[in-house]
Amino acid sequence: MRIILVGPPGAGKGTQAQLLNKKTGVSILVTGDLLRDAVKRGDAVGKEADSYMSAGKLVPDEVVTKVILARMDAENLSSKGFMLDGYPRTLQQAQALDKYLEGKKAKIDAVLYFSVPDEIVKARIPGRLICKKCKAIYPNDHDTLYCKNCKEDSLEPRKDDKPEVITERLVEYKQKTAPLLDYYKSKKLLIEIPANRKIDDVFNDCMKHLNQFLNKPKK
Ligand code: AP5
Repeated sequence: MRIILVGPPGAGKGTQAQLLNKKTGVSILVTGDLLRDAVKRGDAVGKEADSYMSAGKLVPDEVVTKVILARMDAENLSSKGFMLDGYPRTLQQAQALDKYLEGKKAKIDAVLYFSVPDEIVKARIPGRLICKKCKAIYPNDHDTLYCKNCKEDSLEPRKDDKPEVITERLVEYKQKTAPLLDYYKSKKLLIEIPANRKIDDVFNDCMKHLNQFLNKPKK
């Protein structure tokens, strides 16, 4: 199964990707996590990405595409299958991915679009916690720094979860990422998942759509 998860910041892409990975075993590639790790390491990609991410701006296409396609190659994901969380986010990235997959004789099966109103994501994101070790995502009503997977106080807030940066991330989403919805709709790949529902309901809806791609012979 080869799928893309798209939607505004805070739509629940990461939460659902982790649940889907647990259920199906299909690998997830989380662009935001790869970039945040690079920032923490302070390598060349991290140094370039940091100022964009802190301001809520998209990191330049060529930087992100290089990181993602290198990782896909290293893990042979075009053949094994994947769920992409956070890539592509611009038409240029989508075209780069298409070209890459064409070269591997592989195709995207579906694009899950998590739709959710702005006021909901603005309420969900501030105070959200992420585990710095296992990357688990916790809602903003989780009132300790304790991660139940790692059994230690390993949760931390995200640097870009400040109200002014969230507003900018939403602007970037609308200007640069939302056009992808039409792009994938025209390819008959887009599946809208209303995401302003309980996490389990959103998950069950995803599985209902994805079951047809699991165990599908690889092309
Ligand atoms: P990234 O890390 O991808 O952030 P994002 O797209 O802004 O998305 P989020 O991680 O904030 O939200 P999510 O949809 O995953 O929601 P989550 O499950 O966490 O990107 C960060 C930055 O990196 C970008 O701004 C950019 O600078 C750069 N970047 C990344 N990819 C790039 C690219 N391709 N090109 C260029 N730059 C790129 O849920 C949010 C909260 O809500 C959590 O607390 C969760 O517990 C809770 N929640 C989830 N679902 C529900 C529900 N159904 N009900 C109630 N609460 C819920």
